[in-house]
Amino acid sequence: MHHRVVIGITGASGAAYTIRFMELLARLGIEVHVAASAMGRRLLFEELDIRHFTGEAMLGPELADQVVIHTTNDFGATISSGSFQHDGMVILPCSSNTLNSIAAGLTGTLIQRAAAVCLKERRKLVIAHRESPLSPIDIESMSKLNRAGAIIAPLSPGFYMLPKTLDDLVDFMVGRLMDQLGYDHKLPVRWKGSADKQDVNPTASGLPQSDA
Ligand SMILES: Cc1cc2nc3c(=O)[nH]c(=O)nc-3n(C[C@H](O)[C@H](O)[C@H](O)COP(=O)(O)O)c2cc1C
Repeated sequence: MHHRVVIGITGASGAAYTIRFMELLARLGIEVHVAASAMGRRLLFEELDIRHFTGEAMLGPELADQVVIHTTNDFGATISSGSFQHDGMVILPCSSNTLNSIAAGLTGTLIQRAAAVCLKERRKLVIAHRESPLSPIDIESMSKLNRAGAIIAPLSPGFYMLPKTLDDLVDFMVGRLMDQLGYDHKLPVRWKGSADKQDVNPTASGLPQSDA
C-alpha cells in the first residue's frame, strides 16, 4: 500500500511539533494528508508565523508535493471515508475541545470525522493532546478513547537525552510519535541505560536507595 498519514491540527499549543513531524514524514516519501481546524490554523500563525494553510507555506517548495491539504470541514474529503486507506492519523496538537468531542462520538468537523473513522475501522489513532492541568472530563475522555483503541500520547517531552535546544525537545517528542507509527528515524530518543554509572546510580551500585 502507498504510505499515507493523516494529520489533524487543532488549536492547542505546539505547532513546532506538527511542522517537524510533517517534514520527517514527507522526507520519507510518505503522503501527508492534513486537515486543520480554524484555531489550528491560528496557532500555526501565532507560533510560527505561517500565514497560509498550504504545503509550501508549511514545509517549503521542496516537500510541498508530499502534502495533501484538506479543506476545513469538507466532509466530501477522502479522509472522511472509511474506504480511504492510510497508516494512521495523528492529531498534533490535539486540543481538549477536540479530545472531548471525539470521545463523545461527535463528527461535526473533518478532524473529528476522520478520527471517528479510525476508531470504527480499527486504524491507528494517536492523540497528541496538550493542556495542563487536565480536567476530570479530559481524563475520562482519554480513558474512554484509550479503551476504544486510540493511543493517548500527551505532548510531554522527556529530558533524559539532555536536550540543549528547543529543537532537541521537539525532536524527542516527534521521534516518539514516529515510533508510534513504526517509521524509521534517527532522532535521539533511545535511552541506552546507565548501569555503567555506578558512582551516581544507587540501583546499579547496590547503594541504599534512600539518603535517610
Ligand atoms: C494561543 C492559544 C493557545 C491555546 N492553547 C491551547 C492548548 O494548549 N490546549 C487546549 O486544549 N486549548 C488551547 N487553546 C484553546 C483552543 O484553541 C480552543 O478551545 C478551541 O475551541 C479549540 O478548537 P479546535 O479543537 O476546533 O481546534 C489555545 C488557544 C489559543 C488562542
